[in-house]
Amino acid sequence: MTDSDLIEYAQKAIKTAYAPYSKFKVGAALLTKTGNVYTGCNVEIASFGATNCAERTAIFKAVSEEGKIDIERIAIVSDDQDYIYPCGICRQVMAEFADDDMELICTKKNGEYKTIRFGDILPNAFRSF
Ligand code: THU
Repeated sequence: MTDSDLIEYAQKAIKTAYAPYSKFKVGAALLTKTGNVYTGCNVEIASFGATNCAERTAIFKAVSEEGKIDIERIAIVSDDQDYIYPCGICRQVMAEFADDDMELICTKKNGEYKTIRFGDILPNAFRSF
């Protein structure tokens, strides 16, 4: 699975993003170390705090299918001209199911992307296990 393949999965997932309030649609696709792909989109709720980001949707789908997972890579896409980065809550959720060497593939609307090591955007992550 190449980075471009995973980005393509995320681009398919963004099509079902439900973002009537912010209009900011996001798609995500993750690859587990066991070789499976799970996708997600953001799902917004009128009481905004109940909104779920694309990354968490993908992670929760994966965990609900497999139990504990180990994420190898995760791609995130949006319609933003600039790079999309995961929010703080998603970073903490990622820390639960990935080590510091997980690769984050952050993309721009124009297709450019860069790979970031997870430990570089959430240093000294809190993990209780
Ligand atoms: N959002 C994501 O789905 N992922 C991110 O990485 C950043 C933010 C969503 C949450 C909300 O539905 C919308 O984008 C605007 O914040």
